[in-house]
Parts: sequence; C-alpha cells; structure tokens
Amino acid sequence: GFEQSLRPQRLGQYIGQDRVKHNLGIFIEAAKQREESLDHVLLYGPPGLGKTTLASVIANEMGVNFRTTSGPAIERPGDLAAIVSSLEPGDVLFIDEIHRLSRAVEEVLYPAMEDFCLDIVVGKGPEARSIRFDLPPFTLIGATTRAGSLSAPLRDRFGVPLRLDYYDRAALAEIVVRSADIFGAPITREAAEEMAMRSRGTPRIANRLLRRVRDFAQVRGNGQITLPTAQEALELLQVDSHGLDSIDHKLLLSMIERFRGGPVGLDTIAASIGEESATIEDVYEPYLLQIGFLQRTPRGRVATPRAYEHFGMDMPDDGRRNE
Ligand code: ADE
Repeated sequence: GFEQSLRPQRLGQYIGQDRVKHNLGIFIEAAKQREESLDHVLLYGPPGLGKTTLASVIANEMGVNFRTTSGPAIERPGDLAAIVSSLEPGDVLFIDEIHRLSRAVEEVLYPAMEDFCLDIVVGKGPEARSIRFDLPPFTLIGATTRAGSLSAPLRDRFGVPLRLDYYDRAALAEIVVRSADIFGAPITREAAEEMAMRSRGTPRIANRLLRRVRDFAQVRGNGQITLPTAQEALELLQVDSHGLDSIDHKLLLSMIERFRGGPVGLDTIAASIGEESATIEDVYEPYLLQIGFLQRTPRGRVATPRAYEHFGMDMPDDGRRNE
C-alpha cells in the first residue's frame, strides 16, 4: 500500500531523529562485525513518530527477517512460544504496544530475551512440569507510547532504550517533499514548510495531510501543490495554524469554557468531551504539553495563557492560580 511505499528502507533514508540514528548505526555495525544479533531495542514516544518504520529499518540494516505482532495480539504464553520458536537466527521480532502484554506472557518473555530459551509448563496439578527449549538468538524490538507502563523487569531487559521525539519543522518539511516526490506530486518549498508547521511534529500526520492536499490540488487545481493550494486545503480540513484539529479544540475549549481553565482531572475532561482518557493522554495531550498549551499539575490539567491567546480569549482574572 501507499503507507508502506513511503517508509524508508535504510537508516540513511530515515529523516530526523539524528541522535537515535547515530547511536543505532553504531550498535548495528558493532553487532554485524561480531556476527551477533543486535541487543533488544525499546522504542518509546508519542504515536506516529515512526517507531514501526524504524524497527523495519533496523531489520533491513541487519539483513534479517522482520516479524511483527502486538501486545494485545499475544493472548497466551503459547501464542508467544509459537512466534519465537519460528524465528530464524538474528531475526527481528517487533512487538507494538508492548505495554499491553499480560503478566503470564511477560513471564515467558524474560528467559526468551535473556537466555534465548523457553520454559513451557506442560500438564496440570502434580503432573505439571517445565520443559526448556532453546531458541535462535533474536532481537526483540518493543514499541510503546508509555514507557512508564512497562514493568521494571521488562524495561530492564532492553539493552537499547531509545526515545523518539517530535520532529522539527525542517525534518517534517523534508519528509513532505520526499513523500510528494514518491507520489509524483509537484510541491513548492513554501507549501511543504506550511504543511510541516501544521503536522504536530508527527510524520504520520504530515503524510496524511499531504494525501489530502494532493487530492485537493489534483481536483481543484492543476496538480501543483503551492502555498495557496495547501492553505486552502488545510482550512477545509479544519487544521489550524498550529496543526490543532477539532478534537484538540474541543479539549481545550471544554477546559476553558466549562472548567475555567482548570485544574481539572483527566477523567473529567474525557467525560466532558466523550473521548477515552487513554486516547487523550497518549494521543492529544503530549503535543499540547510540548507546545505549552497545557500543563499537568498535581491537581489536574491546566490551560495555559498561550492556549487562551490562541483562541483570542481572556483568562479569568480571579486569582484562582494563586490559591
Ligand atoms: N516517513 C515517515 N517517517 C519518516 C522518516 N522519519 N523519514 C523518512 N520518511 C518518513
């Protein structure tokens, strides 16, 4: 599909995250020189920053198979046993949303990661015993939006923990230009910069906006993605100057209008706008925190002066914040 074709194959094609790329490059080269599997890697950070893409790049660089699954998909220890016992030496096993593994599955994962073996309990009651199987050496790459939700023993078994950060505007513009090039869609530098500014630091969002802007340029224009075309399309998509969409607006305006800007608890905000608390916490909040529109305090979330300013609103002047 399109998403796949936009994905870089090699580290040299992966834009941004320079520190992560630099470190990974060294660990990959060292493992290859020693003809060993790469140590286990934990990728964490907000959604849409390219964790899955980076994992597949690592497998390509190591020259091994890339197998993918996710925490919720591995329901029982037997499911995990089936996957790891089918790996070839050195393979990358990618587990997305690894914080959602059950305790029982985690227990099986520890010896698999540490000693490349499986301890499987067979039989029940007094007949039960444990059989040990050897596994080929492999690299586990775990991805999570919340490293804090991993159990400490699991977190400690990753030799290479890497945090992905929001992309800066230049890196996002480069990604937009690269993707437009892959689509064969002509785009100006200013249009790419504009879309970069409105992508919330997130390549997945940049590529999604690009697809829609390209549709717009194709049907309403001559196919050229210019600044005015991009601006008009983004207006229609209800993406504002900071890249905030209708849900971000609902979230902030609810805090401002119903809770006088907070402090207000996450669950209260969630109920008030009909979204899941976890979605707000993992998907919407991180960027609003990053751009300083939202603050976390011990007593709840607070809309900042910058958020009020964005909506052209005055802050309530009742000394509430000095309580
Ligand atoms: N597409 C999505 N993320 C990317 C990245 N970091 N580099 C290049 N292309 C991408």
